[in-house]
Amino acid sequence: MELKQQAIEILRGNDRGGYTLPNATGLYPAQWNWDSCLAALGWAQFDESRAVAEIEMLFGGQWPDGMVPHILFHGDDSSYFPNASVWQAGPTGRSSGITQPLVAATIVRHLFEHTSDPSIRARLTALVPKLLASHRWCYSARDPHASGLVSIIHPWESGMDNSPLWDDALNAVEPGRPVAHLRKDIGFAAAEHRPTGPQYDRYINLVIKLRHDGYRPDRVYDVAPFRVADIGFNAILQRANQDLRLLLAAVGDGAGAGEVAAMEKSTAAAIAQCWHEEDGFFYGLETRTGATIRKPGIQGLLPLFADAGMATRHPRLVERLESWLARVAYGAPSFEPGRPEFEPQRYWRGPVWLIVNWMLVDGLRHNGLADLARRIRRDSLALVERAGFAEYFNPLTGEPLGGSGFSWTAAMYLVLAADTE
Ligand code: GLC
Repeated sequence: MELKQQAIEILRGNDRGGYTLPNATGLYPAQWNWDSCLAALGWAQFDESRAVAEIEMLFGGQWPDGMVPHILFHGDDSSYFPNASVWQAGPTGRSSGITQPLVAATIVRHLFEHTSDPSIRARLTALVPKLLASHRWCYSARDPHASGLVSIIHPWESGMDNSPLWDDALNAVEPGRPVAHLRKDIGFAAAEHRPTGPQYDRYINLVIKLRHDGYRPDRVYDVAPFRVADIGFNAILQRANQDLRLLLAAVGDGAGAGEVAAMEKSTAAAIAQCWHEEDGFFYGLETRTGATIRKPGIQGLLPLFADAGMATRHPRLVERLESWLARVAYGAPSFEPGRPEFEPQRYWRGPVWLIVNWMLVDGLRHNGLADLARRIRRDSLALVERAGFAEYFNPLTGEPLGGSGFSWTAAMYLVLAADTE
């Protein structure tokens, strides 16, 4: 079967009636926030209505305070730990109590601009106030002192769970009682491709701490033992701010657009401050201590996705990406190759993820770097042609890693393959 058709079959096979499982093997038996948004881009290639349904279902789980949880548990979640009964979170008790990168507005804008169907437009328009509520929540709960940078309070919120960027902040967290033996992921995927046991102990004990505090938006920022202003999370938010502002203007909400413009202005200034002149790279910080996280992860390249003028302002950032690409067979690695923390097989410590590649391709193009965008697009397609729709890939060998039949890899394949630039 042709690869495009295979990608479509994967999305259909992972469809559980309005939401798409990340994959269907039991590894991820629920609706994940940014997986769903990115899967919707893939659905939109052949079924716009189904694409919108995905986002509607996700926002159906939005909390009254505006937060959109990182997981919604709609069905049997017994193959996953921590499942709904461990989280005990939210008004229905069927979600996690933390969020994930706010890509939704970017995806909704994309769907809004590409549709010619008035009924699809109307459904997307109905989502816009919900998107605004989620951005408001993000700033008020996660940047209560109005610094312009929002903080994450759990590594899972970054979407890049075990990135070396969190090592120091996570090691400073009390490991708590050993709970890693309860994890189920390594029954579905190789342990050496996944986070370690000591990391898992801390992930779970952080959840238990947040649960103890009732996931209260007015409290978690102050009590969270892990608190990081991730440059990647903030860059994705900043891009979404622009998309949300344009959506608000398009649906006639001038006041909302003005409000988001103010968010955008303060975050633009704060991201500019994250530039490290000596290293020629963007770094986030630990907001509990103020320490700069001086490690070159893919997060530090995402300001290219947030700002079309970034490459002109910081040509060294682009040179850095080129130097990474020169050291791998397939780009873009999630951490700088050659560093001691770089592990080409372990999750977010080196492997290539197609969703990040999509963000880079888009950002590079907006920055006028079509050739570099083409290289990353080509590598992405070549990985799937060589290794199928894996969760992530080894940048040195192209080997498929993690789970198989992955929704977001299929979706990104459809989007990048349809592209003619
Ligand atoms: C892992 C990834 C995260 C993703 C989830 C479901 O936790 O790190 O980004 O959303 O799996 O695919």
